[in-house]
Amino acid sequence: MDVSDLRLRLSRAGQEHLLQFWDELDGAQQAELYAELQAMNFEELNVFFQKATAESSQASQQEKVDARMEPVPREVLGSATRDHGQLQAWESEGLFQISQSKVAVLLLAGGQGTRLGVAYPKGMYDVGLPSHKTLFQIQAERILKLQRLAEGRHGTKCTIPWYIMTSGRTMGSTEEFFTKHKYFGLRKESVVFFQQGMLPAMSFDGKVILEDKSKVSMAPDGNGGLYRALAAQGIVEDMERRGVGSVHVYCVDNILVRVADPRFIGFCVQKGADCGAKVVEKTNPTEPVGVVCRVDGVYQVVEYSEISLATAQKRSPDGRLLFNAGNIANHFFTVPFLRDVVSVYEPQLQHHVARKKIPCVDAQGRPVQPDKPNGVKMEKFVFDVFRFAKKFVVYEVLREDEFSPLKNADSQNGKDNPTTARHALLSLHHCWVLSAGGHFVDENGSRLPAIPRLKDANDVPTQCEISPLVSYAGEGLERYVANREFHAPLIIDENGVHELVKNGV
Ligand code: UD1
Repeated sequence: MDVSDLRLRLSRAGQEHLLQFWDELDGAQQAELYAELQAMNFEELNVFFQKATAESSQASQQEKVDARMEPVPREVLGSATRDHGQLQAWESEGLFQISQSKVAVLLLAGGQGTRLGVAYPKGMYDVGLPSHKTLFQIQAERILKLQRLAEGRHGTKCTIPWYIMTSGRTMGSTEEFFTKHKYFGLRKESVVFFQQGMLPAMSFDGKVILEDKSKVSMAPDGNGGLYRALAAQGIVEDMERRGVGSVHVYCVDNILVRVADPRFIGFCVQKGADCGAKVVEKTNPTEPVGVVCRVDGVYQVVEYSEISLATAQKRSPDGRLLFNAGNIANHFFTVPFLRDVVSVYEPQLQHHVARKKIPCVDAQGRPVQPDKPNGVKMEKFVFDVFRFAKKFVVYEVLREDEFSPLKNADSQNGKDNPTTARHALLSLHHCWVLSAGGHFVDENGSRLPAIPRLKDANDVPTQCEISPLVSYAGEGLERYVANREFHAPLIIDENGVHELVKNGV
């Protein structure tokens, strides 16, 4: 270990405080800290910090963005409800693309799940469905089902490669989980794990923060760290080698996510888009979703933390929110577009700055849990590449069909938690059964009302869970349920229809 050289490097970058406890560390701690600091590029880090903070105060940034925002024009918008006549054509196109193994999915799973408060990756979370499937298993089974649907339609064997981005914090446990569960029935070769980068937390004056005497406070570099990771790990080359033409990128936490949604893929392909975003109508100004819009004529997402309340509350003449294209973090990219991003545009992406309470040590090396923000984390955002698109499109879907994110723990508040996620899936599957001609009856054999209405968050929906291996989006259920009556809880899976109470489960 050449500590004097490291000390010189740190002092040139104004970060020499990182070795302030060096003499108090034992050999192993010194080796660990030395390796961590040697791997860092402090010049680059300082540039990131300066650029990210240059835009200065949040308030003035908001005002600047607010004044330049325009809603998405109708001509780039496709809608699952308003363009009903075209859905079949889009779906056919998407299934055709999938049948030719030209579609991949890419899961962003490098986040730390701080709000949910679990120590393991969010995809391993069980929200308490009757089957106790985790988010990873639900997504894997949707991929399997879609492959089968495309094969059934076109008579060709196909694969939807699944790229999974993890971070230093989630890589090991994610891979172990997949191995333990035998990749949920997918072929191991079609699941590709890769790791995003990490960045240190910085104080407001640009000093790297120590988490303890021998450890830098590190965090993943945001879901826009995707592009640097794609380049560093040759993932675009892997896509090209497999002949993939387009990629559906999505977040781990949405229990209703339609991975590789053929309608979304087909819509984007038929429009000739190189980049697209799926949205739901934002109806509440304070809902924590970013909005897809144009700023200075260029498409982007203005994140919920970056829009002022006054702008979020603006309404159009029809009474809807003016900025109502709620980003649900489902994006479409062609592989040539991703190639351009990783080779040309990535360095132009700016880090966003989030002020955080970052556990650290004081001058004496004692641990401190701050009660107000004491520094910043720097993150790139996945959607910041929209502005490089030659043809950008937006696809609007129904929230109750496709969006119920798991962000918070049940104890925190009534929103976006395991209970709301579980209820959203059960309610949707209940609707699927009714639409396919099935009915639910109570213990006296009387039919339950067709339209499930939950009075409040404590009210439990009809317990009905359909395996993704049986139905991807509500299709093909007639043969299981038409003209039949069921008692909940009901599970429909590849082995048939199971009424849990009747069977004494
Ligand atoms: C995200 C969107 C927001 C959208 C909302 C919908 C971004 C930047 N923001 O917000 O516009 O309305 O979802 O639910 O996309 N992740 C990584 N690496 C990281 C950080 C996050 O892979 O370094 C992944 C997470 O694992 C997760 C996803 O990115 O799958 C979203 O992260 P999260 O922090 O939950 O984003 P939100 O703030 O909820």
